[in-house]
Amino acid sequence: MPTAIAHPFDARTDATLRSLDAGGQYKHLQTILSPMDAEIRMRTAAGKEVDALCFCSNNYLGLANHPEVVEAGIEGLRKFGAGTASVRFICGTFAPHEQLEATIAEYMGTESSYTFVSCWNATEALFPTFCEAGDIVISDELNHACIIDSIRLTPVIKKGVFKGVYKHSDLDHLETRLKEAQANPDITGQVWIVTDGVFSMEGDIADLPGLRALCDKYDAKLVVDDSHAHGVMGTTGRGTHEHYGMLPGGSHGTVDYFTGTLGKGLGGGAGGFIAGPKRGTELVIQRGRPTLFSNALPVTVACSANKAIEIVMREPERVQKLRDNVAYARKQIGEAGFEVLESPTAICPIIVGDTAKAISMSQRLLELGVFVIGFGYPVVPEGTARLRIQMSAAHTTQHIDTLVDALKKL
Ligand SMILES: Cc1ncc(COP(=O)(O)O)c(C=O)c1O
Repeated sequence: MPTAIAHPFDARTDATLRSLDAGGQYKHLQTILSPMDAEIRMRTAAGKEVDALCFCSNNYLGLANHPEVVEAGIEGLRKFGAGTASVRFICGTFAPHEQLEATIAEYMGTESSYTFVSCWNATEALFPTFCEAGDIVISDELNHACIIDSIRLTPVIKKGVFKGVYKHSDLDHLETRLKEAQANPDITGQVWIVTDGVFSMEGDIADLPGLRALCDKYDAKLVVDDSHAHGVMGTTGRGTHEHYGMLPGGSHGTVDYFTGTLGKGLGGGAGGFIAGPKRGTELVIQRGRPTLFSNALPVTVACSANKAIEIVMREPERVQKLRDNVAYARKQIGEAGFEVLESPTAICPIIVGDTAKAISMSQRLLELGVFVIGFGYPVVPEGTARLRIQMSAAHTTQHIDTLVDALKKL
């Protein structure tokens, strides 16, 4: 019998998985057996089928299972089949892609937009395409992982691009970084500042007017990932820029480029986009590696997302319903003795500290019929594990009361 060769990968992977399990940090996938909605049917990690109230989806406006959104996807599938079997610039652009990009631009208030299979992909296209040697990208330390990785990738693709990080939402520290960049003789190109609009784990928002002012002072461009703000922030759910009265064309200045997802409030399927001036989206079409070398957003998803955005623009009362639910939930959770990080967003994190504790609290909540995920390291910094409660316009007052009763039983 030949002796088995010991590959280093096998041993170290087994050790990592064992250590995650021993530390109570192992993520067990739980399977949803119904459409995503306020009430779902699911199979727990232990294999048990249960009904639960879902408080951990990004389905902010309850559009994931909206009949018109579902029908638009089915219609797209019937009319165009499964896909184009091509990347966009060869023969991968369907009429629904063009329609969706026009709808996104109208919704965001920008000159143009361009879609990708995910926001991760869109972000990975943006910095390596936009930046050249002598540029610097300065990023909030709590920005989403897709921004961090895109910035890390940029100098690998384009030698001579600099990167900097500023303390979370600390504009003084950002200004220090900008002054350092100004004093560096090798930084001769464009300065980029990038932030999440709504920070996904804290639920807080970036100070866009303050960031805009610094951008204007230092000739920098502002890029905002508003994935958790679509359908949530601003009176008509356009995003964090609307919240601050910074829609393009207004007198307060705006954001230079947005990235966003179609996988949360805007239908919940999948997909991402870059929105902004046409020169930027055109450059991405010409030079962006994730679009030149990878297939387009599936047409069914494009059709569903297009319908979802049309509904958001047609029915701003959904945004108001979400806002009312958030206000009610925050009040009730606070009165039940839990401290929720304060913010105007639909993300309500309760900090519990230890990862194993967050996971066990989430398991107990599920036994009580409420699905809330516990997040720990490495998704959030060590020692700041949390239960992240996410509100939706699909929740009723009764759903929220059930959540609060379950929290009280913890
Ligand atoms: C702020 C932010 N940006 C980007 C993404 C990634 O979006 P997508 O799933 O479309 O890649 C997420 C998803 O978790 C996010 O929270």
